[in-house]
Amino acid sequence: MHSHKPLCLSGSGLTKVFGLGRTKTVAVDRVDFEFHEGEVISIVGESGSGKTTLAKMLLGLINPTEGEIYFQGQKRDISTQKKKQEYWKNTQAIFQDPFSSYNIFSKIDTVLLDCIHMRGGRKLPKEQKIALMTEACGFVNLKFAELTNKYPFELSGGQMQRLMIARIFLLKPKILLADEPTSMIDACSRATILDYLMKLRDETGMTLIFITHDIGLAYYVSDSVYIMERGKFVERGSADDVILRPKQPYTRRLINDVPKIYEEWDLSTV
Ligand SMILES: Nc1ncnc2c1ncn2[C@@H]1O[C@H](COP(=O)(O)OP(=O)(O)O)[C@@H](O)[C@H]1O
Ligand SMILES: [Mg+2]
Repeated sequence: MHSHKPLCLSGSGLTKVFGLGRTKTVAVDRVDFEFHEGEVISIVGESGSGKTTLAKMLLGLINPTEGEIYFQGQKRDISTQKKKQEYWKNTQAIFQDPFSSYNIFSKIDTVLLDCIHMRGGRKLPKEQKIALMTEACGFVNLKFAELTNKYPFELSGGQMQRLMIARIFLLKPKILLADEPTSMIDACSRATILDYLMKLRDETGMTLIFITHDIGLAYYVSDSVYIMERGKFVERGSADDVILRPKQPYTRRLINDVPKIYEEWDLSTV
């Protein structure tokens, strides 16, 4: 569906091995992938299938044992701290636990100002910075005036999740990776967060990668789905092809583990 769009992130033969000898674990085993600009991708697999290890390699937090990662078609080079910082401007992540995303000693103003500074806005006049922070908070239905001078831990879980998205609004990364983004929160805020992420994708054209064990979520949000089993991609394709017409027994099993997904869709036709 997005194959006409330029490549944003791709990989070939990407492998991560932990340990040596008898304690060796091949967490990610020679995976190939092509993610395009503006595409929404889900990587789906059971616990232990290698999803987080892959995510960490994509983010440049751990080095692959073998294989290559390409950013916008060029071999990714994060060999120096400076190049890493540059890569992280384009590649951001949000994690399950909103608490882990913040330095607890930073006020909300500082959290948001840091994002503006990271995007090269350090020299902007104060009023313009406040206007940007107000806009970012408004995007997720928060009021900046009510947050100023507070600490993240003074917010509710839902507000903290939304602040996390306000940060992404300011950072405008090319790639956003969400590892099990919504499992910690209730179904209602989960849908809201997903809506904000999709809206942000529509507005900025970022590539959105969901890492999840929830194949229902994958069907709901993705253009493309990659199914991961024991470190390998066993099936990949459009969300419709993979989830409505699965070829692999493993994919069928993941679908059967969530028997409700089709019943839920049927409610809309009642
Ligand atoms: N730092 C590590 N050292 C050794 N083994 C690891 C490490 N991180 C992950 N693993 C192993 O790699 C495999 C994949 O783990 P992980 O990527 O966390 O899977 P998932 O996110 O799909 O649950 C598991 O067998 C896990 O025990
Ligand atoms: Mg994981």
